[in-house]
Amino acid sequence: MSNPRRLLITAGPTHEPIDPVRYLGNRSSGKLGIALAQAGRAAGWAVRLLMGPTETLMPAGIDVYRFTSTSDLAALLDEHLPWCEALIMTAAVADYRPRQRSAVKLPRSEGLTLELEPTEDLVAACVKRKRADQIIVGFALEEPDQLEDRARRKMRRKALDAIVANPLATMGADAIDAQVLTPDQQHLRPGAMPKSQFAAWLIDWIGHHDFQSK
Ligand code: CTP
Repeated sequence: MSNPRRLLITAGPTHEPIDPVRYLGNRSSGKLGIALAQAGRAAGWAVRLLMGPTETLMPAGIDVYRFTSTSDLAALLDEHLPWCEALIMTAAVADYRPRQRSAVKLPRSEGLTLELEPTEDLVAACVKRKRADQIIVGFALEEPDQLEDRARRKMRRKALDAIVANPLATMGADAIDAQVLTPDQQHLRPGAMPKSQFAAWLIDWIGHHDFQSK
């Protein structure tokens, strides 16, 4: 694919409800997804941003669709995946959610045991139903000493077209030191830089990389 033009980005955390006021979440800020949306727009792509619950300010001029939980995001992906030529999945999707959501606020008691169930692997499900003209790029947040190995295995397991691997310290930070891996054994290390600069680099790489040769 030489010049994709419709870019779908997911970003931010998910919140998995426990009761009407409590949830299980994570520390993702969504900053990288926002930077990617802005970089995509600046490079001439039509961009849709699916954004989780975060306080981070939304960029002007980008179509933003909000989600809260993993199932909300699944529904948004059903709706928007057919539209795009490239999906970049930066969202920090929960791996587990409470098996049951209480309809009333749980009272304080001696203790609380939550039973968790695994969530659906959304990006893997997108890969299974994507068209031949679509590419899907995943993200991985890993312990620095196992970063490449774990990210490569994740890319294969989910059958992604590329994976962007980050050390844990990236979460919530303004800078990033990512590595990009592809199924055809490419390994790119653009070096540490602000997220906005990395976003422009990644968008340029996606726009020019020959994904068909995988
Ligand atoms: N992802 C997803 N659905 C999930 C979990 C993760 O779509 N339920 C996506 C993320 O958006 C990311 C990629 O899968 O693009 C890797 O996420 P990560 O949490 O690192 O992978 P997991 O499959 O959850 O593996 P692990 O938690 O064991 O590292």
